[in-house]
Amino acid sequence: MYRLSCIHCGAEYAPGEIIYTCPKCGHLLTVEYDLNTISVTRDEWDRRPLSVWRYREILPVTIKPVSLQEGGTPLYHLERIGEELGLPHLYAKHEGMNPTGSFKDRGMTVGVSMALQLGMKSVACASTGNTSASLSAYAAKGGIPAVVLLPAGKVALGKVAQALMHGAKVIAIRDNFDRALELVRELCIKHGIYLLNSVNPYRLEGQKTIGFEAVDQLGDVPDRFVLPVGNAGNISAVYKGLRELESLDFIDRLPMMTGIQAAGSQPVVQAVEGHLPEVVPQANPETVATAIRIGAPVNAEKALTAIRETGGTAAAVTDEEILSMQRDLAQKEGIGVEPASAASVAGIKKLVEEGAIDRDERIVCVVTGHLLKDPETVIKQCQPPIEIEATEQALLSVLHL
Ligand code: F0G
Repeated sequence: MYRLSCIHCGAEYAPGEIIYTCPKCGHLLTVEYDLNTISVTRDEWDRRPLSVWRYREILPVTIKPVSLQEGGTPLYHLERIGEELGLPHLYAKHEGMNPTGSFKDRGMTVGVSMALQLGMKSVACASTGNTSASLSAYAAKGGIPAVVLLPAGKVALGKVAQALMHGAKVIAIRDNFDRALELVRELCIKHGIYLLNSVNPYRLEGQKTIGFEAVDQLGDVPDRFVLPVGNAGNISAVYKGLRELESLDFIDRLPMMTGIQAAGSQPVVQAVEGHLPEVVPQANPETVATAIRIGAPVNAEKALTAIRETGGTAAAVTDEEILSMQRDLAQKEGIGVEPASAASVAGIKKLVEEGAIDRDERIVCVVTGHLLKDPETVIKQCQPPIEIEATEQALLSVLHL
């Protein structure tokens, strides 16, 4: 049993209502379960495969889900980078290993399933790229048409390729993500299309399973959970999920939720550092990490609560710091991620160097999307292949043998 409730005024709504914010006060909604009626045990969960659907008792889907086998992503111990930073317990949860290469698949398996459960006939989103790739694939699997709005010229190549190939109607607007989201919200409300941006509280239910899996894989609650922050949905989702585990007495404490943004796009960091009651939108966000190039994060209210109630923090990293960590993850750990994803680990590097965190902490950084999402940014950082004549002599000469 669950209902929608407003995080601000507490108004409650039936789970079948097609609303994205509180009709009374306009604030964000959340999915609230009667946790005392849930009788699942941790042993029962442990017997199921590691995946989003291991945790189905605290997910809203009651139909057979639209699934591409999402979740169950690896948790890597960052041995070399951890040693360099003096952090013996540094881990990366590689969400790039999901079916379409980002954590958005956890949200979309639940979100597209809910679209069908609620009887909706089409779905839409605005996106910096990954949400559109994921929605397009899950809409294809669910057999429902999808519309995606992208900021023209600001979406990494792999993501556009995915949205196009999975058959969504792909529209590029001559403005940024924040404007695309405004437009698509209006479109969905006026034309009865199901909105699957992270303002949709059901989508975030799927994403909370990142935290569940990390706890199960570590066998304990990490001291700190670090996420790159764009629209601020993912950090909010992980926090909400872990609070539910705490209410179920499956865990006895919460990790310090830590959000990392790019220096050119850091409204959440500014609110945390400035102790502001709410986030002040930034008009022209800019960063090489186009996935998190967002000036008006829609889930800011939830994210600030997550950070503040857990004694967490937020930090900004420069584009150089992001790209340098992208290379370190690739070359020292064998983990290929896109720039936004490297921001989480780059943020920890910065925080530890500033002395802001304890070196004994167990830290889980979420690396959110795969290296192949943004091949252009990768190629720009690397030397081109060495082209030679097809002879043994030429080969040996370039190898200096
Ligand atoms: N990392 C990657 C790779 C992302 O694609 C996103 C968001 C984030 C981090 C930030 O997550 O928005 O929940 O704070 N991408 C969205 C998109 C906005 O449209 O694909 P968030």
